[in-house]
Amino acid sequence: MNAALRAVVLAADHYQIEVVAFRHGYKGLLENESVVLRPHDVLHILQHSGTVIKSARCQRFKTIEAAQQASSVLDENNIQALVVIGGDGSFRGAHHLAQHWHGQIIGIPGTIDNDLYGTDATIGFATAVNIAMDALDKIRDTADAMDRVFIVEVMGRDAGFIGLSSAMAAGAERMILPELQRDKPLTIAALVKHIERVQKVRGEGSYVMVLSEHQWPGGAVALAEQLEAEYHLPCRPCLLGHIQRGGAPAPADRILGAQMGVHAVELIRSGATEVMTGIRGQENVAVPIVDTWQKKHPLDPNLLRIQHEIFNPVKKSQRN
Ligand code: F6P
Repeated sequence: MNAALRAVVLAADHYQIEVVAFRHGYKGLLENESVVLRPHDVLHILQHSGTVIKSARCQRFKTIEAAQQASSVLDENNIQALVVIGGDGSFRGAHHLAQHWHGQIIGIPGTIDNDLYGTDATIGFATAVNIAMDALDKIRDTADAMDRVFIVEVMGRDAGFIGLSSAMAAGAERMILPELQRDKPLTIAALVKHIERVQKVRGEGSYVMVLSEHQWPGGAVALAEQLEAEYHLPCRPCLLGHIQRGGAPAPADRILGAQMGVHAVELIRSGATEVMTGIRGQENVAVPIVDTWQKKHPLDPNLLRIQHEIFNPVKKSQRN
């Protein structure tokens, strides 16, 4: 997010627009935690994860009173346009605020989940996938050495983008993703059958599975216990948790942040409002902010098809 913040400040400076940041997101907006940001404040923040203006979740912002209060704070600070960097919760907040404030509102997609409609990628996603892939590579060493099954639980909220990309990048044997679970929930018996088949056909015990959060009752720990207790399969769980949200941002995220930050300022100059800046292919696009959560960002069906083939080795006797 720092990359996006930096780009907003530098592009605004280019057009002689003053930037006021509100620390701690909507919470800070309600409490008028404002600070003027000039280029020298943001020049060297690219390599740092997170955001120098801090972030917060703010349940209170959902009320009409809060939106009215935010509107007054923005007017008192003489703000004409608000750039909101965040995920669907932040954008719902932006839409709510738009009902009570006359200024322009532009969204920049900043979430590791990549679950927003209208953009190929969101800021943070590439970094999270890198971290998950790195962890999976390390887990693989023990899985290989000990012929063991591992379940690595990754974030993503209700979307399987991190799960799919990290599983592909690290060559996992299986992934359990929300999108797949919705279509055809995996049973433990089918999972065990798959593990045994892969181990037999490939002639080794190493089996690494990527589990998206909330996709198994009790998560990776419960699933590992179930496999050990009911099927005597030596299995270990690993929860990556908030590790996925830290560390040096990947190059792709820094570049995306720059593209989107500059585009957000251009959108302000064009008079646009209630849109999110997105990237599709090589193009900057402006996406109606309500579409970002009301429409679905699907997983790439081609990647799912590829994974299906990779995951299902055929026994020698079944080959043509
Ligand atoms: O939306 C980003 C995300 O990291 C999700 O992947 C995860 O489910 C959630 O936030 C965790 O939220 P918190 O940091 O509030 O526990």
